Amino acid sequence: MEPEDRMTDHALKPLFGRAQLDARIAELGQEISTLYRGRNPLLVAILKGSFMFLADLCRAIDEPHEVDFVATEAYIHGRVSAGHVRLLKDTDVDIAGRDVLIVEDIVDSGRTLSKICQLFGARNPASLRVATLLDKPERREVEIPVTFVGFHVPDEFVVGYGLDLAEQYRHLDGIYICRVEDGE
Ligand code: IMP
Ligand code: MG
Repeated sequence: MEPEDRMTDHALKPLFGRAQLDARIAELGQEISTLYRGRNPLLVAILKGSFMFLADLCRAIDEPHEVDFVATEAYIHGRVSAGHVRLLKDTDVDIAGRDVLIVEDIVDSGRTLSKICQLFGARNPASLRVATLLDKPERREVEIPVTFVGFHVPDEFVVGYGLDLAEQYRHLDGIYICRVEDGE
């Protein structure tokens, strides 16, 4: 089966193109550089969805900083499996005393970030903030402060630029609204 064939079940509607993403991430990079000047912040990306955002964001930051990764329980076919969130991979470095910036692809219910902020907050970081490329505020179940937001998105499932539906579409260069074709 060709990769194209696996994508015919869904209609993809462009939401943010490459140029829009680049422009917004450049702005975020500047804001982050200013806020953390001289602080050597630790950017902690939540795998896998934020890998592309992190790659571009860290290159838009013109101050020394470090990167690390955590992984949480995956969405199963676009649906969260349960009300709880499980950590599959922790940071490699100790975050105590560090200025930590969590890098997320999208905030939906807020459960993932709430769990990670709770966990990280207990480890005595010097500061703890969140940068997300996308925010879907209509879906929020748990309130969570987000310092940096790339774009607000409507209550739709979005894919591309790292975000997946059942592990597909992560490679797409922009963000797309993804709807199931009913074939009618
Ligand atoms: P939350 O815990 O409900 O906020 O969900 C966070 C995670 O769910 C994100 O990090 C994504 O990996 C995934 N997710 C939520 N909404 C979408 C979406 O529209 N497209 C792709 N992944 C999503
Ligand atoms: Mg994610």
